[in-house]
Amino acid sequence: MNVMLRPSVPDVPAYAPNGNECALFETAWTRQLPLLLKGPTGCGKTRFVAHMAAKLGLPLTTVSCHDDLTAADLTGRYLLKGGDTVWSDGPLTRAVRDGGICYLDEVVEARKDVAVVLHPLTDDRRILPLERTGEELAAPVSFMLVVSYNPGYQNLLKALKPSTRQRFVAIEFDFLPREREIEVVSAESGLDAAGVAPLVDLARRLRALKGVDLEEGVSTRLLVYCASLIDAGLPVREAVRSAMIEPLTDEPDVRAALIELTGSILR
Ligand SMILES: Nc1ncnc2c1ncn2[C@@H]1O[C@H](COP(=O)(O)OP(=O)(O)OP(=O)(O)O)[C@@H](O)[C@H]1O
Ligand SMILES: [Mg+2]
Repeated sequence: MNVMLRPSVPDVPAYAPNGNECALFETAWTRQLPLLLKGPTGCGKTRFVAHMAAKLGLPLTTVSCHDDLTAADLTGRYLLKGGDTVWSDGPLTRAVRDGGICYLDEVVEARKDVAVVLHPLTDDRRILPLERTGEELAAPVSFMLVVSYNPGYQNLLKALKPSTRQRFVAIEFDFLPREREIEVVSAESGLDAAGVAPLVDLARRLRALKGVDLEEGVSTRLLVYCASLIDAGLPVREAVRSAMIEPLTDEPDVRAALIELTGSILR
């Protein structure tokens, strides 16, 4: 049994650290500094935030940012209710009022006006101005803003501006070392380490192709899916194909090459 993956505090989502990120998170929270997490898809960013929020006993609000997400979606808006207009807090405003953690996932996707509300909240002012109500909320000491993005998907139009980026303490995420990743995938899927090891080895080979033939390598998330399918009784090759190859590419040539590579690694 892996002690690291089974925290003694109940209801804390399991998280295997890759470095000193847990201490860094806690220190940033203590010092009221906002945090930026960057790294490839499925490497544990969301799990890390959930783990830390539970460990610190803070309520967590997660917002998945997208092209159409505006500042008002985060702060709130007036809604019509039975002829009256009633103010309704958005998720960011609620998190500030509650003194919890607000986690903005894929923050680069959000509209530009989002930066306007994030800036005063992420420097030493720590205030959230609600333009519509005229309120100016001071964030309580326990409030923390965490944002994440995947630098791989970024294009020039969507890059974070330096004035935004330089308001955060940043942590770079990457996949776990081989043995650690085997432990995590085994704990998450139920498949034993001997069954997981060849999958992790295959994933590591496929990750090396990132940028050449593939936009992204196999994530830990896909490894967990694959191992879960095998644990449930699916033949290994079928599971690998559905969980580790098909999600990576739609190119017939690349797919064929990956299947061939799989055959040579999974004997
Ligand atoms: N360090 C880790 N400890 C425990 N589980 C992990 C870890 N890294 C990855 N996982 C597993 O991988 C899955 C995917 O991780 P997670 O959702 O946190 O990725 P992410 O980095 O947020 O990806 P995305 O950028 O796509 O949102 C988790 O649900 C968990 O099963
Ligand atoms: Mg995530």
